[in-house]
Amino acid sequence: MRRGSQPVRRPALRSRLLAAARECIGVVSLVGGSLAAAFGQTAYLTDPVRFWQHESEYGGAGTCMACHSEIHARQRSSNHAASLRPAHEVSELASGLPVDRPDRVSGFTLTLSGGPVDGLRLTAADASDSSQMRLEWAFGSGLKGITPIGRTASGKWVESRLTWYESLGDIDFTTGASKYHPRDAVESLGRELTAEEVAECFGCHTTGYDEPASGPSGEEMGVRCERCHGPGRTHVEAATGGLPLQGTIANPGTLAGFAQIQMCGACHGRPPQDNEFDALALLERTPHSVRFPSQRIVLSRCFNETFGELACTACHDPHGDVADEAHSFDASCLSCHSTGHRREAAVCSVGTADCSTCHMPKERVMRHSMFSDHWIRVVGRE
Ligand code: HEC
Ligand code: HEC
Ligand code: HEC
Ligand code: HEC
Ligand code: HEC
Ligand code: HEC
Ligand code: HEC
Repeated sequence: MRRGSQPVRRPALRSRLLAAARECIGVVSLVGGSLAAAFGQTAYLTDPVRFWQHESEYGGAGTCMACHSEIHARQRSSNHAASLRPAHEVSELASGLPVDRPDRVSGFTLTLSGGPVDGLRLTAADASDSSQMRLEWAFGSGLKGITPIGRTASGKWVESRLTWYESLGDIDFTTGASKYHPRDAVESLGRELTAEEVAECFGCHTTGYDEPASGPSGEEMGVRCERCHGPGRTHVEAATGGLPLQGTIANPGTLAGFAQIQMCGACHGRPPQDNEFDALALLERTPHSVRFPSQRIVLSRCFNETFGELACTACHDPHGDVADEAHSFDASCLSCHSTGHRREAAVCSVGTADCSTCHMPKERVMRHSMFSDHWIRVVGRE
């Protein structure tokens, strides 16, 4: 343990030194017999998107319910599961319509109309021109915001220029919208998405998505079981038939810290590896990267000096929502930052509770959204 060592004030250098130290210590602990700890530093996933080893078809979250009912119930009502829905089913968007918003940038007036039964439409109109699209999909559970995407009459996918924001409890212009200067009514509806972008949006907001950019068809909406456990039909069949289950399903809980951070990071931001010095240095000086917890966390000494113990699941229930009371994270911090613990780390001289409020402050990353900085540190000391 590095207790009492000099504080190193240059984080980029520190990361590099720590990376080197981790390599060495890996060898030492191999000799010492701690294979798991050594693995923690070298276990990189070659493909964090499809990281599982087994072959199977998808079964769907519904097939897991019979045997894992408690997890299923919690996960089904989580924000992960709600991160993609048909737009007209989302009450934040579909109630209290129509809604008008004059767009000072384009000069057009945007109108959101329709409802849960006949579907949602977005119209852009001025005195001489107008255009309309059907809003098909709503991205975001509403934890921060909900942005619909739709298709114009000519079949182009467009990200709506209007978004519902939790912090406002209301509809406003989509973040980044003012950067685009629409030239006509169609462009005033929102930003046109390329086929590649559409595939990416659905790729991160659905489960088992491998269709071209035609929208989900058969895949499950939202982040569901098989997105993190791999396709599960073989597992279900084996479990139903009383056959051995080994190797039928992946459990990311068995991944070492960095590998799990990579797995979650397929959507929450790809974490740089130890030797990607430029990427690490860039992250440190890019405040906007606070949006990507899996990138920020690898800058933390808590991660770097615990040999891969600090996985996302140290603080988050992967099947539920983020805890909303700051003190619910204290037990995790104190599992290392208290005396007498196996992984004993420095004890705070300033606070004894609500640790994350000072050491993982919330930053305003976008106009209407705050994110918690997962680079755990004494802010300002670095
Ligand atoms: C017919 C019952 C049954 C069904 C259906 C079922 N499982 Fe399981 N599952 C089991 C049993 C039994 C185990 C082993 C004991 C345990 O961990 O509960 C298990 C274990 C697991 C594990 C832990 C594996 C490990 O190596 O630690 C995961 C993950 C899992 N199941 C996911 C799923 C998913 C995802 C689905 C739906 C696609 C699913 N299960 C459907 C019975 C079932
Ligand atoms: C397939 C992409 C994907 C993967 C993989 C993924 N997430 Fe997420 N995650 C999302 C999306 C999308 C949201 C936004 C949900 C919403 O709309 O509010 C989210 C939201 C979250 C939230 C905040 C919302 C809340 O209250 O629950 C946490 C915490 C989280 N993810 C943790 C994890 C962890 C831990 C893992 C790995 C075990 C993981 N995620 C893997 C896509 C993913
Ligand atoms: C690399 C994976 C990934 C891609 C690609 C992606 N998202 Fe997300 N999206 C996430 C994750 C993770 C979250 C939750 C955390 C966050 O907001 O950064 C999220 C959150 C959201 C939210 C909720 C608002 C918010 O800020 O939390 C909306 C709306 C959204 N995404 C829309 C889209 C749209 C539209 C596209 C395509 C143009 C897209 N996403 C592409 C991973 C992705
Ligand atoms: C965002 C990723 C993610 C999603 C979605 C997800 N899981 Fe998990 N699951 C995990 C992780 C990570 C663990 C390991 C938890 C740990 O070790 O603390 C896990 C563990 C499990 C286990 C092992 C027992 C346990 O409680 O640790 C089972 C069974 C399981 N999940 C079933 C499911 C089912 C069923 C669904 C869908 C209803 C689902 N999971 C959705 C990430 C996910
Ligand atoms: C898996 C163990 C572990 C967990 C969990 C953990 N830390 Fe750490 N943390 C460490 C280690 C090890 C260090 C570096 C050595 C030391 O402080 O003794 C460290 C360093 C720190 C530092 C000093 C950082 C610097 O740049 O000098 C702060 C502040 C901190 N942790 C706060 C927290 C908070 C707050 C939490 C919970 C949100 C937390 N830690 C969770 C192990 C952990
Ligand atoms: C040491 C504890 C800790 C670890 C480890 C941790 N988180 Fe968090 N996470 C938090 C805290 C604290 C919050 C803020 C909760 C709140 O809203 O007050 C948070 C919030 C989030 C959110 C919600 C958006 C935001 O930024 O507020 C997402 C998404 C998230 N974490 C993803 C992850 C992922 C992915 C990992 C693994 C790379 C991870 N977290 C690891 C403590 C942790
Ligand atoms: C009110 C804000 C606040 C709260 C709450 C707080 N801390 Fe701190 N913490 C600080 C400040 C400021 C420092 C730097 C003190 C210094 O430089 O002497 C610090 C220092 C630390 C350090 C570094 C100690 C060292 O010697 O390098 C650790 C580790 C730490 N805190 C962990 C925690 C944990 C764990 C909790 C919750 C039990 C916590 N902090 C609660 C503000 C806070």
